Amino acid sequence: MTIRLAPSILAADFSALGDAISAAERGGADLIHVDVMDGHFVPNITVGPPVVRSLKRVTRVPLDVHLMISEPDRYLEAFVEAGAAMLSVHVEAAPHLNRTVVRIRQLGALAGVVINPSTPVGALEEVVSEVDFILVMSVNPGFGGQAFLPQSESKVKRIREMLDKVRNPAPIEVDGGIDLDTVGRIVRAGAGILVAGSAVFRAGDIEAAARELKAAAEEAERGAASQLRQA
Ligand code: DX5
Ligand code: ZN
Repeated sequence: MTIRLAPSILAADFSALGDAISAAERGGADLIHVDVMDGHFVPNITVGPPVVRSLKRVTRVPLDVHLMISEPDRYLEAFVEAGAAMLSVHVEAAPHLNRTVVRIRQLGALAGVVINPSTPVGALEEVVSEVDFILVMSVNPGFGGQAFLPQSESKVKRIREMLDKVRNPAPIEVDGGIDLDTVGRIVRAGAGILVAGSAVFRAGDIEAAARELKAAAEEAERGAASQLRQA
């Protein structure tokens, strides 16, 4: 499995987003993660399709748009048109999840389903065979800079088993509190896409921070793979 790093612009300087993204890309960012919040589903407000459209022009890697909004169905088209290559909706916000996933794919993006820390993995059971990726929240969504919740590890393992059972190779993305201290264990649990806001964009040297975090993730993944081979 290849590990991908998805720096979250939530922690970046919004007056110089283009520069921040270029630095993260030089450091090995594989995706750019965009956190969309509506002040309703989560207690914070961020950006909408116009910002995604501008980012699309300056970003070389795909945009991974995480919708933390109520009634996400109303905005799927706008975000894909604006340039989202990956679009994820919360299981807690989308009552007709199968339809939502199908619609995202029809629009031409990869469809992801996101699960909050307090939502049991069973909530994913009926959609695991249809998703392109699953996003596990390792903090309660709404803000950057929160501490990683350790129970996320076992959650990732259980979701990997659910996906394997239906033979869906979809990667598991993990979001919240990922830094050099937590990245190893979440990769060993089975995470394939790592979102990191503060650990990349709050660093003095964004490029170096991205490179270092990705290297740590890749090292953990090599360790996990060689352990599997020995077993
Ligand atoms: C939280 C967002 C995250 C956030 C992660 O609601 O979904 O993407 O930016 O930030 P850090 O890495 O600082 O926890
Ligand atoms: Zn996010």
